[in-house]
Amino acid sequence: MNTNRAEYLPHKGVMVEDVSSLLADVPGGNFIDATYGYGSHFKLSEKHNHLKFIGFDRDLESVKSSKTEHDVNHLNFSEIYNFLLINELLPISGILYDFGLSSHQIDSDHRGFSFQKNTQLDMRMDSEQKLTAEYILNNYLEEDLARVLKFYSEDKYYYRITKKIVESRPILTTNELVEIIKEAIPKQNPIYIEKTIRKIFQAIRIEVNNELNEIKSSLHSIKESIVAEGVIICISYHSLEDKIVKSFFKEITTDCICDPSFPICKCEIKQQFIHPKKKKYTPSENEKKSNTRSRSAIMRYVIKL
Ligand SMILES: C[S@@+](CC[C@H](N)C(=O)[O-])C[C@H]1O[C@@H](n2cnc3c(N)ncnc32)[C@H](O)[C@@H]1O
Repeated sequence: MNTNRAEYLPHKGVMVEDVSSLLADVPGGNFIDATYGYGSHFKLSEKHNHLKFIGFDRDLESVKSSKTEHDVNHLNFSEIYNFLLINELLPISGILYDFGLSSHQIDSDHRGFSFQKNTQLDMRMDSEQKLTAEYILNNYLEEDLARVLKFYSEDKYYYRITKKIVESRPILTTNELVEIIKEAIPKQNPIYIEKTIRKIFQAIRIEVNNELNEIKSSLHSIKESIVAEGVIICISYHSLEDKIVKSFFKEITTDCICDPSFPICKCEIKQQFIHPKKKKYTPSENEKKSNTRSRSAIMRYVIKL
């Protein structure tokens, strides 16, 4: 927590009202905002005072700029369970994940997340972490880089881009990377070129921050700690994030899969959560119009039995 609030460009929280309507029915207790960012969801603590909000963010800038009255900790969300355990804050009433980046990270002119700002190839959400985009681009073996670009960008030109990156080393700036991508792919409509550049930047960012493993690990570690009728809420912006959430929710909402003719259960699978009426929620048309960042958002949640 800190009063030294940076003058960020405005960040509009996504599906804040949808989250708010869910919180009204959650039993009182500790509620975790796993991705504090700019605090737009954390502010719901003012309205839902049966919940004691505890925030986390791996980005020190977000933590340092948080409101003094907000309890925000500098930690990866995969470490939240241990933190809560050690500090005797379990069980919890629920947890909210709003994945991806906040506007101040994207708009920063020195953190390297945006291909539109020429700067060093950093892309770390946590500036205390060692691994940077520059390290990956200049040191990964060709096959490892190809794997990152293939699976995380899902772009058909991933292999041509990998080869060009390896040939062009050393690569030090975002502009250099943009030029390398442009040279590697066929001449085409600038809209498609930009799409590929965006996907490649995103893929490298996912690798730098180990984003998908963070999600898997955090969800698995926290699921036992939710009270009955508590919630796990996830807002995803990338199909790979949503795929992880969807499959995890399927796993924890599934009950015994034994052949009904078996006298006793052998699979030991026991349903722990239920889905609400709908499995997937998206922002209203109005929200999509007024906040372009919300366009790709998908919210899913489950309720503890
Ligand atoms: C989309 S922003 C959250 C915005 C926030 N809900 C709001 O509306 O103000 C995502 C935030 O999550 C943080 N973050 C992403 N991955 C994280 C992780 N594995 N552990 C902790 N924080 C993470 C990012 O640093 C970023 O500040």
